[in-house]
Amino acid sequence: MKLNEALQIHLPSVDREIVNIVKHDPDVSRSSVVAEAITSLIVSGGKRLRPLMVIVGSRFGPSPDKKKIWRLAAAAEFIHAASLIHDDMLDDSPLRRGRPATHTQTGIYPAVHIGSYMSARVVELIAEYSADRKRYAFDLSSVATSKLCLGEYQQLKHAYDYDLTLEQYLEKSRNKTSLLMAACLRIGAQAAGADEAVAGKLYEFGDKLGLSFQIRDDLLDFTGTKEQLGKPAGSDLHSGQVTLPVLFALEDAELAPRIRRIGPSTPQSEVEGVIAAIKSSGSLERAEAYSVRLLEEARQIAAGLESFEAQRDLFTLLDYFGCRSR
Ligand code: FPP
Ligand code: MG
Repeated sequence: MKLNEALQIHLPSVDREIVNIVKHDPDVSRSSVVAEAITSLIVSGGKRLRPLMVIVGSRFGPSPDKKKIWRLAAAAEFIHAASLIHDDMLDDSPLRRGRPATHTQTGIYPAVHIGSYMSARVVELIAEYSADRKRYAFDLSSVATSKLCLGEYQQLKHAYDYDLTLEQYLEKSRNKTSLLMAACLRIGAQAAGADEAVAGKLYEFGDKLGLSFQIRDDLLDFTGTKEQLGKPAGSDLHSGQVTLPVLFALEDAELAPRIRRIGPSTPQSEVEGVIAAIKSSGSLERAEAYSVRLLEEARQIAAGLESFEAQRDLFTLLDYFGCRSR
C-alpha cells in the first residue's frame, strides 16, 4: 500500500493544490517557462512526503482549517521542489525522478531563477497566514528554508574533508533534510491549534525520522543500482561527500588512507575498489544500526502521544521510513 493510502490522504488533491500555486500566480503567465517548468516537475511524481507530514501534523490539533492546512502542505512541497532544482545543478545530475531535471530542460540560468523564484514565492504565500500574527507559518518559509540552504553550503564546504566530525555530519544532515520534515509536522499541528508541547514533540519526532532518512539515503550510494539512483553508485563518495558509512570506515586504520586519497580526479576504478572495501568493513551495518536507533527514538516519542488517534499515522510513517529512502 502506498504511504498516502495508508494515511488516507488523497494525493491528487495535494497535487492540485500545488499546481494551483502556479496557476493562480498573478505575476507568472501559465505559458511561461517558469510556470511550465514548475508544473512539469510537480507532475513528474514524487511521494509528497512533506505535504503528507503537514497533514498528519494537523491531525493533532482540535481545529484543522482544511484550506489553510492544504495550502501549507503545498508550500512545503514547493520549497522541497525548489531545493531539488538547485540541488540537481550543484550535483550535476541530469535526471530527477527518472526524467530530465529542470536545468536539463531549460538550461542553467533559467533553472537558477526558477528555483529561486519558487522559494521566494513561498514566503509570499505564507505571509497570508502571518497576518493573524501567528509566527509559526514563518518557520517553514524562513527557518526551515534557510537551514536547507545552510546544510547545502556545509556540504559544499566539507567536500573531501576527511576530518569531518560526526557532529558536523549530523548538523549538516539535519539542516539539509530533517529540519524541514520536522517543521512540516509542527506547522500542521500549530495551524490546527494543537497544544505547543504536542507540536514540539512532533518536531522532535520529525527531526529523528528525517535524520534516519538521510542516513539511509547516504547508504544507498553504496547499495543502490545506477537505475535506482539515477547516477552511478559511489557518486557521493567520488564527489567528496563524507557520509556516515565513510566516517565509520575512516576509523579503520588500513582503509582510511585509501579513502583519504579520493579526490575529484580519482579514476572511477579506484573509487569502486574503495567502495567494495567500505562495504566489507562493517561500516554500512554500523550506519544502518545508527539509523535504526533514531527510528526507535522517534517511535518512543510517538508512543507518548497515545491520547491522539493520529498516533497511528506516526507509526505508519515510521514503518514507511524503516524500509525506504528518498
Ligand atoms: C537533496 O540532496 C537535496 C536537499 C535535501 C537540499 C538541497 C538544498 C539546496 C540546494 C539549497 C537551495 C534551496 C532552496 C530552497 C532554493 P541529495 O543530493 O543528497 O539527494 P538526491 O539524491 O535526491 O539528489
Ligand atoms: Mg542531489
